[in-house]
Amino acid sequence: MAIAEHQALMEKLVSLAKRRGFFFQSSEIYGGLQGFWDFGPLGVTLRNNIKRTWWRTMVELRDDVVGIDTAIIMNPKAWVASGHVQNFTDPLVECKKCHQRFRADHVKGTHHADDGGEFTEPRQFNLMFKTFVGPAEDTSAQVYLRPETAQGMFVDFANVLNSTRLRPPFGIGQIGKAFRNEITPGNSIFRLREFELMELEYFVPPKEEMKWLDYWKEERLKWHLGLGIRPEKLRLRPHGKEELAHYASGAFDVEYEFPFGWSELEGIAARGEYDLAAHQQASGRDLTFFDDLKRERYIPHVVEPAVGVDRILLTVLIDAYHEEEVRGEQRVVLRLHPSMAPVQVAVLPLSRKEPLMTAARKIEHELRPFFRTEYDDTQSIGKRYRRQDEIGTPYGITVDFETEAEQSVTLRSRDDMTQVRVPIAGLRQALQERLG
Ligand code: GAP
Repeated sequence: MAIAEHQALMEKLVSLAKRRGFFFQSSEIYGGLQGFWDFGPLGVTLRNNIKRTWWRTMVELRDDVVGIDTAIIMNPKAWVASGHVQNFTDPLVECKKCHQRFRADHVKGTHHADDGGEFTEPRQFNLMFKTFVGPAEDTSAQVYLRPETAQGMFVDFANVLNSTRLRPPFGIGQIGKAFRNEITPGNSIFRLREFELMELEYFVPPKEEMKWLDYWKEERLKWHLGLGIRPEKLRLRPHGKEELAHYASGAFDVEYEFPFGWSELEGIAARGEYDLAAHQQASGRDLTFFDDLKRERYIPHVVEPAVGVDRILLTVLIDAYHEEEVRGEQRVVLRLHPSMAPVQVAVLPLSRKEPLMTAARKIEHELRPFFRTEYDDTQSIGKRYRRQDEIGTPYGITVDFETEAEQSVTLRSRDDMTQVRVPIAGLRQALQERLG
């Protein structure tokens, strides 16, 4: 695909997202705010589907992982100890002519391509948002909005260890908002200033760190495939030595081939004892584990898979987006996996006539406890099918003039547009078989 086509695809997707209510610019009526987005009715359902799947796989279905929910604002000493105050920076350059600022590693050459202005020397810019706690606005009250949820899990390590019966290897998982004052947010919701993270801190005996890094990279790749993302668009990329954080002994990115190139979807890192050791030192609290079977005391090492909800949402939408020609007309269809689709079953009366509308409403109410359903009687049936295709609804039920006499409806498949006649009494089972 050429660059122009890539751009066009992103533009089409962002326009669909807005038109159908997946996501749009935050406070758009005031001109928006760069790096901040809102999620509409379909977007919030898709986000919840993503988070539910993650929580189910990473926490609920495992006997070695527990979940927690820590505060967004922490004692600022935690961010000094973790190294974020000192090191959570990106190199920033400024165009001397127009004073626009860029991430140094995102620009080419020494001059701004738009106006020829020379760039300043790069300086380190800290990405943490600052705010104040309480009525005093001085440095003693200054705190940070967390740029990751991970530190909440490290500082709560002893509380979790002491309140559960877990022993390494075990994990703590968390889903929550994170904030980064990115110098150049962009590519719609790819790089945001406010986003949501899903992170697992997996605490292991030191000698087992590499084994678990290997385990988690495979598990996480499998998880993304389970969302229905095309395998040829996903890959695992090991970090080169020069890319690794100084404390990391190994890391992999799960990458997706976005329209703008292969980019990070998820990071999986072996963080050693770095975080727990740093917090133990700074807080003076004991963050070791005593293995009473081996009579050994150690600071557990950490393997961390960390991924953004918003970035998965964008990936899922891009991957599902298809255009095709049907009987001389263009059809846009989101081939979303049924577990992701915000609406799984649309119930559509063929026309706005009785008894069709009442029958359709009744069917929709009966299916609602079992599937994500929607009733729609607006516009022509063709337009309603197009809309459902565009929002990725796997199945449509059409209530027509034969329904009352035959007690049956047509079931239309999004992907191949075939229609089969199904008795109303067998609908739930027919859908369960198809949706999984
Ligand atoms: N605790 C480790 C950590 O936060 P990271 O690689 O900085 O690691 C993990 O971030 C994941 O969070 C990324 O792979 C990406 O999915 C998501 N992410 C990071 N920065 C983001 C941003 N500015 N906007 C949206 N998602 C972001």
